[in-house]
Amino acid sequence: MIRSLRGMNDILEEEQYRRFNHFHNVACHVAMRYGFHYIETPLLEETALFKRSVGESSDIVGKEMYQFTDKGGNDICLRPEGTAGVVRAFIQHKYDKKGGIHRFFYHGPMFRYERPQKGRLREFHQFGVESFGLASVYEDASLIMMVSDIFNALGIGYTLQLNSLGCHECMPPYREKLIAFIEQHADTICGDCQRRKATNPIRVLDCKNSACQAIYAHAPKLMDHLCTSCNTDFTTLTLLLDKEHIAYTIDTHLVRGLDYYSKTAFEFISNDIGAQSAIAGGGRYDRLIEFLDGKPTPAVGFAIGVERLLELIKLPQQEREGYYFGAMDHEALPLLLQLGQRKRRSEKTIIEYSAKSLKAHLKNADRVYARYCVVIGANELKENTLWVKDLVNKKEQHIPVDSF
Ligand code: HAM
Repeated sequence: MIRSLRGMNDILEEEQYRRFNHFHNVACHVAMRYGFHYIETPLLEETALFKRSVGESSDIVGKEMYQFTDKGGNDICLRPEGTAGVVRAFIQHKYDKKGGIHRFFYHGPMFRYERPQKGRLREFHQFGVESFGLASVYEDASLIMMVSDIFNALGIGYTLQLNSLGCHECMPPYREKLIAFIEQHADTICGDCQRRKATNPIRVLDCKNSACQAIYAHAPKLMDHLCTSCNTDFTTLTLLLDKEHIAYTIDTHLVRGLDYYSKTAFEFISNDIGAQSAIAGGGRYDRLIEFLDGKPTPAVGFAIGVERLLELIKLPQQEREGYYFGAMDHEALPLLLQLGQRKRRSEKTIIEYSAKSLKAHLKNADRVYARYCVVIGANELKENTLWVKDLVNKKEQHIPVDSF
């Protein structure tokens, strides 16, 4: 038997689909309320796009890309995340030259060749937003409020972790201090950290190795080395969140797994889903547009991982909806199809194509969650009527076919 690839799932169960659909309805609705417009970018992009944005030193680009050469000899890959493609589209369609504020949201599959486990897939779905043209930390705060609105509407609890990754002024001197600290401990840190020291030293701070963590607990903190502008922005951000009663913890080791961030970085964590607990992540990336040859434009965004949320979503009570049509007599089937077909044009309508007892039809109508069970038996056929039961208020009546 041919099976789906490891870490790639089918969305098949109705309950699962209802959760997916409910999430998208809520998230898209909230995004539109915040003034964001839908954008769709291709699943395949040039590999160079991700190398230059997500960064060659990141695990995503270094180890996890679905990268291949197409029939035309182009080096391409399946998108591991959504930001790079949206930024590429923003520059390609000259939105950077137009100036002004542009806000986009997107959703769709992303691909990372990671070791699959609960909450970690090779094909997974993100809902994300990207906001261009605003350097104000008020936009960072608004985006965090937006994630909070989405999670609240879905009945999902979270903890929020915040950090500032500084800017091109305060990050380089801090990086030097951090490298000096790492060098003092070069003999005891793990191999991955040795490598990170050379490629992207700040990433050592989120090493999962417990011996490394014990060492980095004493490392200099970027929070203590922020320039005045980054410091003021970070303080403002916390005050804005306080006013909205959005609780957060400051995690000075939150560096994110993608290289494009500066200033605000944040992650939403769920305590109810096991080890893969990050349910959303984002931050500011003011330098990325110019790194990709666009006109310098401040930007900030986030993405939510849909699969990790599914089991946490509190679905609203399912409402009974539409019609179930059944016949008790084989001869009634053509009329049944004709009437059901008419109904389908305006209402959800399930038609049973084989004759069954009234009891069996009522059972079916209940199973498919129909509001009305419509049945044609020998009597109804003779009298040109339909037997209709409202499965909510349990009322039964005969309705003439002509007035149905
Ligand atoms: P990210 O933190 O890499 O950020 O991913 C965002 C979310 O996607 C994670 O918090 C997690 O819920 C989900 N996720 C990531 N990898 C997997 C996986 N293998 N299986 C299941 N879920 C996963 C980004 O992708 C950035 N583009 C976010 C962003 C937008 N930053 C600025 N704008």
